Amino acid sequence: LQATWLGDLTKRQGPMEKFALVTGTSRGVGAALLPMLLADGWTVLGISRSTGSTVQSPNFYSAALDLTEVGSARGLEDALAVVAKFKGLTRVALVNNAASLEPVGNLANVGLQTLAGSFLINTCFPMWLAHKVLALFVEQNVVVVNLSSGAASNPYAGWSSYCATKAALAMSTRVCREELGLFHRKKPALLVDYAPGVVDTQMQEQVRTSDPQQFPMVAKFRQLHNQGALVPASEPAGEIYRLCRQEFAHDEHLQVRYPISEETWDLLI
Ligand SMILES: NC(=O)c1ccc[n+]([C@@H]2O[C@H](COP(=O)([O-])OP(=O)(O)OC[C@H]3O[C@@H](n4cnc5c(N)ncnc54)[C@H](OP(=O)(O)O)[C@@H]3O)[C@@H](O)[C@H]2O)c1
Repeated sequence: LQATWLGDLTKRQGPMEKFALVTGTSRGVGAALLPMLLADGWTVLGISRSTGSTVQSPNFYSAALDLTEVGSARGLEDALAVVAKFKGLTRVALVNNAASLEPVGNLANVGLQTLAGSFLINTCFPMWLAHKVLALFVEQNVVVVNLSSGAASNPYAGWSSYCATKAALAMSTRVCREELGLFHRKKPALLVDYAPGVVDTQMQEQVRTSDPQQFPMVAKFRQLHNQGALVPASEPAGEIYRLCRQEFAHDEHLQVRYPISEETWDLLI
């Protein structure tokens, strides 16, 4: 039995020039990125558990998949195989944006399944999808944006899972750069480890409501919010959008955070 979204993608007629797979499109940074890509003529496959998106576009395919479940790999693999058959494709972007802060607190109180789920969504799916996309779309320019965090390099008590999964993702992006020669690609790839800053999304709401016993740094995040220091989601989304359509002549790896400096943009051209 084929999912409706996959059936719709399979039945799509005509060429497809630019394709983006974006995880976590139901809210936050991913939801802010979606209209930017669609307005620029991209076909977008958005992944989240809930698909109640307000975006209506014939070029938007929305799949309800839980990325803490290994079983979600099958639908993604099928979708990428369908997209690879379209004529006229020149550019593919993968935005590994969906992530989970859970489990927060002492891991002694957490089941191993929950911990494994965190690694699946924050690390395994992004790594695996990057390899799939780089291997499948060798004749297209490929941009992979992995959403990172200050937690990838700073240890926060109560966030051992989030910190470790984001650190592992950052290393996987670097390793991927070293492996690019193995894919026998005909067009270059841009691999980006991108930290979006402290963004005004539901994830930050969740951070602020943390129990200080579970997450002692909570006061710092409440203070940032009270000071109005949070960045609107459209700001990092705009930078991710710019990365997706960025011209680049050679394979590149970037490790950047919001806001990306003009010198960095210039380096790519
Ligand atoms: N917000 C910040 O301050 C901040 C700071 C540093 C880094 N980041 C990173 O930036 C990225 C975006 O964060 P955000 O603040 O926009 O997060 P958010 O508001 O919590 O949104 C997360 C998105 O991921 C999806 N998602 C969550 N669990 C999922 C699951 N099990 N399966 C499939 N999709 C799932 C959510 O949709 P459903 O719930 O419908 O599944 C939602 O669309 C993340 O990688 C985050 O780690 C954020």
